Amino acid sequence: MRLVAATGNVHKLREIREILSDCEIVSAADVGFTEEVEETGKTFLENACLKATAVANAVGMPAIADDSGLCVEALGGAPGVYSARYSKLFAPRDWTGGNKALLLKNLEGVKDRRAYFQCAIVLAYPDGRTLTAEGRTYGTILEAPRGTSGFGYDPLFLSDDLRKSFAEATEEEKNSVSHRARALAALKELL
Ligand code: IMP
Repeated sequence: MRLVAATGNVHKLREIREILSDCEIVSAADVGFTEEVEETGKTFLENACLKATAVANAVGMPAIADDSGLCVEALGGAPGVYSARYSKLFAPRDWTGGNKALLLKNLEGVKDRRAYFQCAIVLAYPDGRTLTAEGRTYGTILEAPRGTSGFGYDPLFLSDDLRKSFAEATEEEKNSVSHRARALAALKELL
C-alpha cells in the first residue's frame, strides 16, 4: 500500500518507514500538499484525525498523521496537546524562557514528577474510513536537563524503560520504547 505521511519531519518519516516497512511511504510535500493544518482539537486523536483526513481528502490517497505531547500527572496532564506551544500560551507575562523552563518552574517543589509521552496515529482513507492507534511511554521529569540528543522535552524526560533521559539515549534506543513507535506498532497490527 502507498501511504502519504502528513509530516515534513525527517525523523518521523524515517521512523514511519522503518516500522511500516510493508508500505511505500511518501511525504505530503512529495505529492504536492504543503498546507499547514491547524491543530484545533482538544485531544491528540482529534488533531491527528484533522491532519490525516485533510491530507487524504486533498490528495486522494490514504494518509497517516500523528500528534503527540508530554502529559505530567501533577499538572493534570499538562502541557498535553499544547506541548509545542506551552510557554507561548501559558507563560506569565514577560517570560523569556522556553517550554522546558516553564515546565521546570511549574514543577518547583513538586515531589511526584511522573509523566508520559502520548502519541495518537490516524490512517485516513479518501473514502472517509479511519484507523486509529495510540502509544505511551512512561517516565519522570528531571530537576534539570540531561543530555543533548533528541528534541522538545527529551532532556527533562527520564525514561522508566531506558533509565536515562531521552536526550541521553541514542535514536535507536529512544525509538525502541517511544510513544510514536508504540502507536505505529499498534497501527501496524490493524493493517
Ligand atoms: P508533534 O506531535 O510533533 O506536534 O509534537 C508536539 C510537541 O510535543 C513537540 O513540539 C514537543 O514539544 C512534544 N513532543 C512530542 N514528542 C516528543 C518527544 O519524543 N520528545 C520530546 N518532546 C516531544
